[in-house]
Amino acid sequence: MKVHVLGSAAGGGFPQWNCNCPNCHACRQGDPRFTARTQSSITISADTQNWVLLNASPDILQQIRSFPRLQPARSLRDTAIRAVLLMDAQIDHTTGLYMLREHRQPLELWCHPLVRDDLVSGNPLFKVLGHYCGIDWRELRLDVSGFEIASAPGLHFTALPLISNAPPYSPHRDRPQPGDNVGLTVLEPATGKRLFYAPGLGLMEAPVWAAMQAADCVLVDGTLWTDDEMITLGASKKTSRSMGHLPQTGPGGMIEWLDQLPAGIRKVLIHINNTNPILNADSTQRRELTERGIEVAYDGMEIDL
Ligand code: MLT
Ligand code: MN
Ligand code: ZN
Repeated sequence: MKVHVLGSAAGGGFPQWNCNCPNCHACRQGDPRFTARTQSSITISADTQNWVLLNASPDILQQIRSFPRLQPARSLRDTAIRAVLLMDAQIDHTTGLYMLREHRQPLELWCHPLVRDDLVSGNPLFKVLGHYCGIDWRELRLDVSGFEIASAPGLHFTALPLISNAPPYSPHRDRPQPGDNVGLTVLEPATGKRLFYAPGLGLMEAPVWAAMQAADCVLVDGTLWTDDEMITLGASKKTSRSMGHLPQTGPGGMIEWLDQLPAGIRKVLIHINNTNPILNADSTQRRELTERGIEVAYDGMEIDL
């Protein structure tokens, strides 16, 4: 299976348009230690012809341009994106759908009913797109038997509920319900290879940990280095955990978990916030990850499983 990272940054991207934190400033100045990143999305395929888009970021048009496989040019209007699957209803994962409004048929969109609710009411994407291509909604179920996406053959998907957070326009903000956020195992039955993907992971519960241990590669929440990173910087009053993101460091942080994974599992952080010191390729924090065998996703990264 081919995994292509379209966007590796958290909401806001890197550099963020209104941010002058040391990272954003240095990146804007062309400091070679920093690489710009677009917002959170990956795409995946078993046959390299039919792709599933996991999350639709506001940067989607730029992301599609940067990955020509998504435009095979077989007819006047064409795309290799066969379906879109959403992990949550957050802006960074959904507003790219507006940019796909010229689709020639209703967009095949897989998401949990709670995510759909938020995209009918709080952020009325279903209604707005109803005036354009429309949405062919497919219910993303949380049952352990999983599901297949017929338009993108050769992959089997299993979604599991995660504790993270619902968007501010959701009635579940700060009291997330099972289904508001999901993690995804993608299995390619032909090879037996498994990817675990969770760009927003706020608490390591037993089923999540089991899914990570069963994977060949984990592509997981790398939003913030410390729980109070945004507060210390004066950028926000919120901790990482309150936003639904496990910080990398501290007791019970992501590094502690990744260190316990069996050898041989590829470990990659994604959904990196612009304030995170790991964005500096020369930082001690980045070196610490490298020493532990933890990679940092970048736009255009390819993972072959
Ligand atoms: C998050 O992951 O916490 C959100 O996407 C942040 C945002 O986009 O505003
Ligand atoms: Mn996000
Ligand atoms: Zn910044």
